This record gives sequence, C-alpha cells and structure tokens, in this order.
Amino acid sequence: MKKIKVGVIGVGNMGRHHTRVYSELEETELVVIADINREQALKISEEYNCNYYQDYETMINKEKLDAVSIAVPSSFHKTIAIKCMNKGINVLIEKPIALTLSDAEEIINVSKEKKVKLMVGHIERFNPVIDKVKKLIETGMFGKPIIISSTRVGVFPKQITDINVLLDLAVHEIDIIGYLFNNNVKHVFSEAIIGEDGREEAAQLLLNYDHNRIGIIQTNWLTPVKKRKISINCTKGYLEADYISQEITSYTLLPKETPKTYSQFLDYKSEEQIIRLKHVEPLKLEILDFYDSIINDKEPFVNGDDGINALKIALAAVESIKQKKRISLDENNKTNNAN
Ligand SMILES: NC(=O)c1ccc[n+]([C@@H]2O[C@H](COP(=O)([O-])OP(=O)(O)OC[C@H]3O[C@@H](n4cnc5c(N)ncnc54)[C@H](O)[C@@H]3O)[C@@H](O)[C@H]2O)c1
Repeated sequence: MKKIKVGVIGVGNMGRHHTRVYSELEETELVVIADINREQALKISEEYNCNYYQDYETMINKEKLDAVSIAVPSSFHKTIAIKCMNKGINVLIEKPIALTLSDAEEIINVSKEKKVKLMVGHIERFNPVIDKVKKLIETGMFGKPIIISSTRVGVFPKQITDINVLLDLAVHEIDIIGYLFNNNVKHVFSEAIIGEDGREEAAQLLLNYDHNRIGIIQTNWLTPVKKRKISINCTKGYLEADYISQEITSYTLLPKETPKTYSQFLDYKSEEQIIRLKHVEPLKLEILDFYDSIINDKEPFVNGDDGINALKIALAAVESIKQKKRISLDENNKTNNAN
C-alpha cells in the first residue's frame, strides 16, 4: 500500500484530532505539524512523535508533503490553502471553507489550476448514521423525505472568535439536509439571538427546497450539553438519528387500529425499529476518503463545490437575520434580492 506524507497546519481543538488520526492510520505518515503557538506545536509534536514548525510557510518549503489538513481559524483558510496548493500539496480544509464566497471561489479555482485535491471538512457526511439514513431513504420503504429537522447545539467554543454560530455549526446541517434531499434551497429564513460580542450565538433556520420540502435547523452555543440529532419525515415513515450515539430509530406506517383504551392511546405508534451501528469515528472515514481521492485520482466525497454551497446558504441565512426577511437563492444557490 502506498503511504502518503502528511502535515497538519493548526493543531488546536480540531487539528489535534487530524494529527491523531493521521498518526493512527496505516495509509498516512504523519511527518510534521505547524502552529503559530509554539507551546502547542511542541506539545502535539511530542505526543505524536513528529517534527514541528511555528511557521507553516517554512514547513511547506522544507518538507516534502503529499497532503495537509488545514485546521486554523476560518479567517486564515484562504491564504494558507492557496499557499499549500501553489506548492502542489493536496488540501483538506476544515469547514467553513472560507468566510466569503469570493475567497471560497479563489480556493476552488487554485485547486483546479494546480490540479490538487481539495476536500472540505463537512465531517458528518462520513458519519455512519448519515450513510445509513441515506441508504434507508433510497430503498423507498419510507416514501419521499419531505421535512428534515435537525438540532446542533452545545457550549460556547471560546476559541472560535471569527465566525458566528451559523458558519460554525449550522453549516454542518445545511450540508447534510441538502445531501439527504438531493436538492437545492430556494429560500432561506432565519432568526437569531445576538450575543454580547455582536455575533449570532443562537439561530433557527427555515430552508425551503424544490418540490415543497422543508429543512429546519436549530443551532446554538448556549446549551450546556452537546446535542446533534436529525429527524426525517417521509411520506410513508419517519427516521430519527443521533450523530453522537450513531443510533437510528425508524417508524413505518401507522397501525390501522385506532386506540380504544388509554394505554393503547399512549402506545399508539407505528412499528419502531432501532438500528445501532458499529461506532466509527467520522474523521477517520473522512481522511480515508481524502487519501483515496489522492491515490486514485478521484474527486473527494465532499469537495470545494459542497463547501461553497453550504457557505452560500449559511451566508443567505445571516442576510435573512439582518434584513428580517426571507432570502431567495437561484438554482445555483446564488443569493438573489430578498422577496
Ligand atoms: N469539522 C468540525 O467538526 C470542526 C470542529 C471544530 C472546529 N472546526 C474548524 O476547524 C478550524 C479550527 O478551529 P479550532 O476549534 O480547532 O480552533 P483552535 O483555535 O482550537 O485551533 C486553531 C489553531 O490554529 C493555530 N493557528 C492560528 N493561526 C495559525 C497560522 N497562521 N499558522 C499555524 N497555526 C495557526 C492556533 O494557534 C491554534 O492552535 C475552524 O475552521 C473551525 O471551524 C471544525
């Protein structure tokens, strides 16, 4: 098996997990990390027995790398990704791809020009529950999905200072709902609670898709416990999945008998099935897909277009909050004037 030589830029909260996974996988050789915080770089390099740099540019000039993960604050994604790609290095960039559409477009253009792989870290695409839910929907036994509702809440991430909760958390759900619906958003409406620092710290999003389908996202940094759940109402059934426990509960058609007694009434539900999947770390699957895309010259499962798509919708939601009205997107998910 061909191993690829990898580095990680930014080894804070998320980058340390990229580092760990690269060090664990047989397919990848963790060569080096870079972090402007020397203490952090030293600590992680000792933990994973690799070289370290404070300056990522020196790192990419001196080391021969096939690929890097970029897990620095989102406002630095563009500059660092472009510098790496210009050196011919394949890039796995954390979400959101960038802060603006023009920056995201630039990243995508350079990846095409330099013919390097560009993957965006929409990690939940690699969550086994999402793969299973997608397959269950595709069997047709639940009918067509019409309403997808998700909750992604948790504690305030004090290290994130450059983005709001929509770009931090809602982008995950925007990407997944779009993936499950296989469809483009037509309109976005959102309301938010603005924190003391002026950023949206809680938001509800209402996404209207083609064919009268609806996505609902509840997200915040205000809940003292991490909850990540998604439910899919279909024309002939209902699915509920927990991203964390990787458990799915499915319900098919309602029983024909109407409840007569109180206990029958309490129990009145359709056939319930609980599916407990073998727990797999999504980041491991994400990095293996990145590896596969490099080795077999394939498009990564989540590419730059997916990254920009999620960003467009999240930015339209932020615009909706500002303008206090629904924002329309055209068939390419480009934001039009509000209506
Ligand atoms: N996919 C996910 O589920 C997920 C989860 C958390 C964070 N993220 C994303 O990962 C990125 C990082 O977030 P985080 O929570 O790890 O932040 P963090 O602050 O914990 O880590 C960022 C690290 O980058 C370093 N850094 C900053 N500028 C640098 C530079 N120019 N060169 C090298 N290192 C630099 C910092 O010193 C820090 O150690 C963000 O884009 C965030 O949205 C994704």
